[in-house]
Amino acid sequence: MSNATPVIFNNTVLRDGHQSLAATRMRTEQMIPVVEKLDNLQFGALETWGGATIDSCLRFLNENPFDRLDTLKKLSPKTPHMMLLRGQNIVQYTSFPDDVVQAFIQCSANHGMDIFRIFDALNDVRNIRTAVETVKKAGKHAQGVICYTTSPVHTIDNFLELGSELEEMQCDSICIKDMAGLISPSVAADLVKGLKEKVRIPIVLHSHSTAGMAAASYYSAIDAGVDSVDTSIAPFANGTGQPDTLLMQSMLETSTRKPNYDLSMLAELGDYFKGVYEQLDQFTSTKNEKVDSDILVYQVPGGMMSNFRNQLKEQGMEERLTDVMKEIPYVRERLGWIPLVTPTSQIVGTQSMLNVKFGRWKMLSQPVVDILLGKYGKTPGPVDPELRKQAEAQAKQASVDCRPADLLEPRMDALKKELKESGMPASDDMAVLHAMFPQELKKHHANKGQPAEEPRKPVAAGKGKPTQYALTLQGSRVEVTVEELN
Ligand code: CO
Repeated sequence: MSNATPVIFNNTVLRDGHQSLAATRMRTEQMIPVVEKLDNLQFGALETWGGATIDSCLRFLNENPFDRLDTLKKLSPKTPHMMLLRGQNIVQYTSFPDDVVQAFIQCSANHGMDIFRIFDALNDVRNIRTAVETVKKAGKHAQGVICYTTSPVHTIDNFLELGSELEEMQCDSICIKDMAGLISPSVAADLVKGLKEKVRIPIVLHSHSTAGMAAASYYSAIDAGVDSVDTSIAPFANGTGQPDTLLMQSMLETSTRKPNYDLSMLAELGDYFKGVYEQLDQFTSTKNEKVDSDILVYQVPGGMMSNFRNQLKEQGMEERLTDVMKEIPYVRERLGWIPLVTPTSQIVGTQSMLNVKFGRWKMLSQPVVDILLGKYGKTPGPVDPELRKQAEAQAKQASVDCRPADLLEPRMDALKKELKESGMPASDDMAVLHAMFPQELKKHHANKGQPAEEPRKPVAAGKGKPTQYALTLQGSRVEVTVEELN
């Protein structure tokens, strides 16, 4: 490759690093002592917000997420701040109306967010268009995402086509998001080369070391001309997280693209984060730290694997782990080969468990019904037509093929009215949080300044009545209620 520009590292330790390795439990006060140092390292971006952090702030840490952003921004004003946004789902699991998506982005921009990394779990671009347009209007950087996955309907050509669509949509850059750590070095090179030929905007690669391939795939992508990669700082790196910054830089020793991040500063930060990691030991697991080659067999995210072990134990199904894992590709196929990323990873995982426990499709969880009805958007492949009929019968409604948010009425006025009625400030900040986390926001508002509560445990299953299943995957939590069919 003729490109001799040093590759840029974005740093994820304050978001994906602890989301992947410590269930998103790093507190703002644990970040504060080193934020200025992180700022001085001159990374391409600091990922500080979004993903599961907003949920975790309110649900577990009794923190206002916007206060966290203000604090971090103030302490690291030189480096662009980056957040992960789930398109029309914002940072939740279901679609929100356009006015709520727009307000959320405007609020985040007002608090200093610079780069919005925007994805849709199905790679349905209709679900990210409103977000991209709003970010552009706010004068900020819109990064469009290609969710990488493997299936018979996902080809390099499809991904390249998606890259062109993102550029046409006026995205400022493209992220190849390999949430499960499945991208191999050779595919990473092919994809980066292909995109570089097809689009002019910068390309970022984001992966996870879950299967042990990420550092090699980064190396290969860097060789193929990728503009930047996401790294973290150990111990909030490697395993289910991003490759460690020091490791990645060392791998590029004599490469013309080797960056020059301050080694002694990185070592100092590593020492500091070791201490934080120990403080969070109730949320860490040696299973997350190891290379998990199961993922190469079952093609499921590593975080899902470790959580399933706990989940199945609680259901008295620990012997069935392999059956559930084998069920996942089957469920994916019938649901149109949807990629496994929040929220679809939780949805497919839970349905696979239900299939194994009660028999295939004897129970359909509500989110699976919604996927079959088209309410999450267009699936990459067609869904099973018989299952769709079953879903239509269960929901007593026909499936749709429009953009899911087109079915939703604006909500901002109603949200503010609700806030006023419950005696809370009716600001835009509060309204967007209230839209996504009403109970948690209320609790936070009532307990402001109090110590955080202990995390809730998954709800145990009952018999003969609607059963609630709760999954916590890499810090993201989803509850699924299912009723037995006649
Ligand atoms: Co990630």
